[in-house]
Amino acid sequence: MDIQSLQFAKRFDGISGSAIREIFKLLAVPGMISFAGGNPAASALPDTQVAEIARELLLSKGKTLLQYGATEGYAPLRESLVPYLKDRFSFDCREDEILPVTGSTQAMDLLCKALIDPGDKVVVENPTFLGNMQAIRLYQAQLIPVDSDEDGIKVDELEEVFRREHPKMLYVIPTFQNPTGRTLNLERRKKIAQLAAQYGVVVAEDDPYRDLRYAGQELPSIKSFDTEGWVAFMGSFSKVISPGLRVGFLAANAALLRKCTIGKQSSDVHTANLNQAIVDAYLRQGLLAPHVEAICQSYAEQMNKMLALLSKCGGVARYTRPQGGLFIFAELKEGMNAVALLNKAVERGVAYVPGTYFYAGGGHENTFRLNFSMSTIEQIDRGMQLLNDVFTENA
Ligand SMILES: Cc1ncc(COP(=O)(O)O)c(C=O)c1O
Repeated sequence: MDIQSLQFAKRFDGISGSAIREIFKLLAVPGMISFAGGNPAASALPDTQVAEIARELLLSKGKTLLQYGATEGYAPLRESLVPYLKDRFSFDCREDEILPVTGSTQAMDLLCKALIDPGDKVVVENPTFLGNMQAIRLYQAQLIPVDSDEDGIKVDELEEVFRREHPKMLYVIPTFQNPTGRTLNLERRKKIAQLAAQYGVVVAEDDPYRDLRYAGQELPSIKSFDTEGWVAFMGSFSKVISPGLRVGFLAANAALLRKCTIGKQSSDVHTANLNQAIVDAYLRQGLLAPHVEAICQSYAEQMNKMLALLSKCGGVARYTRPQGGLFIFAELKEGMNAVALLNKAVERGVAYVPGTYFYAGGGHENTFRLNFSMSTIEQIDRGMQLLNDVFTENA
């Protein structure tokens, strides 16, 4: 039989995953200035510290770490995460309410595996992180987008949707959101926790950028206002230690976490022991806080430089002014098309991600996302000049 006749599972219907991948191929061109990715800067990856930790761990506990481990996670890491969550995210939880996972991407996948049947409704911010929208779509859920403004997802609309649509889950990124960079305000955090319990909706709270704050006051997590266990919290060390280690965690009600743990058994058995132990040592040795402080200093300069240049950039109608994170979201003047202009930008040597891909229902072709962490100040200067040229010529 011809392999062309191979029938893929229906869950892949309508899922191509190609749009952004195509953009990333363009970035391989030498000299390209990329505002498209969302990676930490190479200088923000603590390779020497991790090498020392890994050597020490392998010499002292190598036989255990190189063996299979428990799906529930590396026990010392779960222990370290209890005070970490209290300190950084303001909520109490027990060790058996924490599951280390293979990047927080896996937390989203496991939550969907545990909760979503085909046709179930999942509310997402409009726009939101493409990767997790994809995960939700692969479980054949119906996405219901709810708009956001400067203070995050609009909770009045959210309540209306909860009442009318009876969704199973809400996916929300409260701090320095991807792609907008916006932060959900305190009042809305409290309201979301209350609405989740009132309407019986699981909140998947995804907060990987929290520690990358360059201005303003920290806010407690939505989970800190959760009294009945409706909020499942997804955290990650990708943006503050290393995305390549693939260590994140899910903190949730024990019954929900148990289902996720069973789901994880058939995904990857467990997250790599050595990588969990490296993150655990990083936390125990108190290395995270000074590292975050150092990287925030340079990210703040990069963001402020990009914001200053955006204010003078031709064709740009408005843009967000984040207090942290890795992204700025901008809107071109009415009638301009960021998808069509990407090719012209790339020809000049600069790339971004068109905003349309982050909207569950598409549209908004005049929007685009900029990342500043992967570019030096000089590259930001040059790249924004090139964008200014392209947008001004096509305004
Ligand atoms: C909002 C958001 N959630 C989750 C992730 C994925 O994180 P991880 O590397 O922990 O899987 C990203 C990565 O870009 C992200 O932007």
